[in-house]
Parts: sequence; structure tokens; C-alpha cells
Amino acid sequence: MKALIVYYSTYGNVYQMANLVAEGVRQVPGVEPVLRRVRDLVPDSVIESREDLKRGRDMQKDVPFVTKDDFRQAGAIFFGTPTRFGNVSAQLKNQIDQLTELWLKGELEGKAAGIFVSTGSLHGGQETTILTLMVPLIHLGFILVGVPYSTQALFTTKGGGSPYGPGHVAGPDGQRAIDDDEKAICIALGKRVAEVGLKLQR
Ligand SMILES: Cc1cc2nc3c(=O)[nH]c(=O)nc-3n(C[C@H](O)[C@H](O)[C@H](O)COP(=O)(O)O)c2cc1C
Repeated sequence: MKALIVYYSTYGNVYQMANLVAEGVRQVPGVEPVLRRVRDLVPDSVIESREDLKRGRDMQKDVPFVTKDDFRQAGAIFFGTPTRFGNVSAQLKNQIDQLTELWLKGELEGKAAGIFVSTGSLHGGQETTILTLMVPLIHLGFILVGVPYSTQALFTTKGGGSPYGPGHVAGPDGQRAIDDDEKAICIALGKRVAEVGLKLQR
């Protein structure tokens, strides 16, 4: 079974989380992670004018853009986004809004889904972002999967992460490294959504 990890990342934090989610997926025999990014909406001229934006873009240049067939072929799908004013990024939402054809045919119904998020600050909206992103995913027919408290890192995290999904606090300059608890929660979601997806497919 394929597990699609589709994400948007400006500075690279969500991209790094996507790789950790993939690590969790790989722990489930018979499930293969497929990493895909969505198109940016920031004009190239703006990206070219800023070193931080160029660094974030270049880090991910080898990740293919997601296609409708990637969504069709996956039994489990992860959505990763930075928080934008307490909500999902326009870039990821733009991609979700292009799933109308699959929605009309019910092609995403019954697939397992998980959400992961990065914020600048600790209380900047990780949970609101995940919970509001659940709304369109329910419309599309996904079976939403979170992270239960058997993942010990949920008790100890001083950064991000909640039962709703992994979170990372990137800091005001976006440079804070993903810490061990945040990593463990990313890996836990990867494994759990892959396991549930496999069961649903059977
Ligand atoms: C327009 C904009 C809005 C943002 N809104 C929030 C916010 O509401 N809360 C927060 O903690 N961080 C906010 N941030 C910071 C981003 O969430 C942070 O840069 C991001 O998590 C880094 O992820 P990335 O490296 O994958 O791009 C915002 C950043 C931008 C550019």
C-alpha cells in the first residue's frame, strides 16, 4: 500500500516533519511512503529576493509535485502544513480545493488520514490548524487518525504535538530544530495512520 505524505513548507520545517512521518510509515511492513509537495503561491520574484525563502525552496527541490493519481493510489494520506494565522496554509488548501473531481466520485472515501503542523510559537495555533483542516477532510470522506497517549512524548513535549497530530515549534526565525519528543510524535503518527490505512484497505 502507498501512503501519500503531501505537504507545503516555506522554510523547510514541515518538510523535515514529512520525512519523520515517512520514517514511521516505513516501520509498517507492506506500506511505502510517497513524499510529495504542493505548488507555492509566493511569486518566484519574491522567493528570489530572500535568502531564507530560497533556502527553504532549494532544500525541497527534488520532491515531486503531487498529482491526482498520487491521491488515488494511496491507501493512507498525510497532510502537512505550516500554520498561517491559526489556520492551514493557502498553498495546501489550494491543493485540497483541486480535489473536487475525486470528491464527486467518492475516490477518497474510506482512506485513513493524519495531519501534522509547524508553528512559529508554542500557542500560535497548532491545534486550531489541525482541527480546522479536519473539516474539509471529513467532507472528502477521510477517516481521521490522531496520536493516542500511549505515545509517551505527548506527556513530556515542551514543544509541539498533541493527540490531534504532530506539531513543531519552529521559533520566531523558523530555525528551532525538531526536538526528540516532536520527532517521536511524527514517527508515531506515520506508523499509526499506515497501520489503520492497511486495515481499512483489507
Ligand atoms: C503569513 C504567516 C502567518 C503565520 N501565522 C502564524 C500563526 O498564526 N501562528 C504561529 O505560531 N506561527 C505563524 N506563522 C509562522 C509559521 O507557522 C512558521 O514560519 C512555520 O511553521 C514554519 O514552517 P516551514 O518551515 O515548514 O515553512 C506564520 C507565518 C506566516 C508567513
